[in-house]
Amino acid sequence: MTTPVISLSGISKYFGTLAANRDIHLNVHGGRIHALLGENGAGKSTLMSVLAGRYQPDDGSIALHGREMRFTSPAQALESGIGMVYQRFMLIESMTVTENLLLAAQKKIGGSNCRRLISETAEQYGLAIDPDKYVYELSMGERQRVEIVKLLLLDADVLIFDEPTAVLTPVEIDAFFTVLKKLRSADKAIIFITHKLEEVLELADDISIMRKGRVIISTEADRKQISKRQLARLMVGRDVVLRVNKEEIPPGETVLRLRNFSGADVHGTTRFENIDFEVRRGEIFAIIGVAGNGQSGLVSAIAGLTRADSGEVSFAGSTFNAREWAKAPKDDMAYVPEDRYHTGCVGSMSIAENFALTQIGKYRKGATKLALDWQKMSEDGTRAVEEFKIKAQSAQDTAQSLSGGNLQKVILSRELSRNPKLFIAEQPTQGLDISATEEIWQALLKCRERAGVLLVTGDLKEVLSLSDRIGVIFNGRLLDIIDATDSDQIGRVGLLMAGVTS
Ligand SMILES: Nc1ncnc2c1ncn2[C@@H]1O[C@H](COP(=O)(O)OP(=O)(O)O)[C@@H](O)[C@H]1O
Ligand SMILES: [Mg+2]
Repeated sequence: MTTPVISLSGISKYFGTLAANRDIHLNVHGGRIHALLGENGAGKSTLMSVLAGRYQPDDGSIALHGREMRFTSPAQALESGIGMVYQRFMLIESMTVTENLLLAAQKKIGGSNCRRLISETAEQYGLAIDPDKYVYELSMGERQRVEIVKLLLLDADVLIFDEPTAVLTPVEIDAFFTVLKKLRSADKAIIFITHKLEEVLELADDISIMRKGRVIISTEADRKQISKRQLARLMVGRDVVLRVNKEEIPPGETVLRLRNFSGADVHGTTRFENIDFEVRRGEIFAIIGVAGNGQSGLVSAIAGLTRADSGEVSFAGSTFNAREWAKAPKDDMAYVPEDRYHTGCVGSMSIAENFALTQIGKYRKGATKLALDWQKMSEDGTRAVEEFKIKAQSAQDTAQSLSGGNLQKVILSRELSRNPKLFIAEQPTQGLDISATEEIWQALLKCRERAGVLLVTGDLKEVLSLSDRIGVIFNGRLLDIIDATDSDQIGRVGLLMAGVTS
């Protein structure tokens, strides 16, 4: 093999006393896709942020084409051709694609031929973007393409992607893989963080696995030698079974029924029309769709965060019109929102406080009921931390200090403990690693023993693993509802997601 483009030696990075990276050695080559695998918290993002100049290492060195470099900012790393697409995109929503690209690459593309440069670069790698659209109008897949074009305009030849597929739909993932392959043919060095094993086996030329801050193995990907099972075991350090044991449960009474339910999302841009379905106790009813097809507006209206325009909701025995429903009491309904960092919790509050947040009535005390029982709150929080194996020093840690998987467990355990009749889970495992996903799936299955579960997701595998019935939403409409045990029909779900009905 050629000399590596990047060579990390002995990299360590500490946050206080926590060693996020310890003594890491890693080589990355041009014209190859290098998958960096590891559970949440393994240190992947930190290591890549060191390489991309966002963090300075406490020890060790970075060599680029054999020459030792020191980056004190991302801009400096980019000057040397190292660029990173972060998990949260760095685009300005109120500006157009062209304006964003100009802002980032003024020196390279400023001037009269900027539009030509943008479209040429985009076309070369099959990155379909509309330069005149505003970023807020773009899907996650489109935003990601803009980020990639940005790095290419800046002549990056090392491209780092931090969990690029976590926010993408199945269709967008395929398109993204095609782009990655083109980048590889153009001799770029690509580092691709993921914890989806299928993706690794499909794409990677090299594989490195991180666990607890260390790289425990770094190897060429030999598809004949490596199985999904082995990768999973290396990542987690124990055997994992990505199989769901689902018990048959006869469905009980209907807990939620929607009739002709229509409305829009908070921005008023994406609509859902005439939605009809019901969720029964004992079942997981899934709504699956490519992001942006009306499902997020639909869930907010069901959860009562926004008001639908028309239609009818029956919940736990009472029926409401759209206006009444927005104000109706929803004590028997639990909701795990997609945005776990903002809607799901208060980051600056402790785990225990977040745990009490949606059931504060339980903790009122004293004659006036104005005081709060902090002792009980702390005890319940501590119990939840133990019961759900939440990785934290104590229940007094802030929510924002937790990794995504652990935060999701806090939110989920809180909502489960309310003993709801209807449990709504929106993208519950997005961005989570194997063991967290496994635990959350088990929790949802357990929940269905007592409640009806409404699962809203874009993840086909999740739906096929968990659901009893599947409603496919496309362009704001529920195209069909398919029984998950109907093997003749189940293959249609993917097609329906793309709007193919025949
Ligand atoms: N800015 C930060 N301050 C303090 N701790 C951090 C910071 N970033 C990451 N960590 C901690 O470092 C460890 C590794 O995190 P990270 O690199 O994000 O892991 P991964 O990307 O593999 O999920 C985790 O324990 C995380 O909580
Ligand atoms: Mg990360």
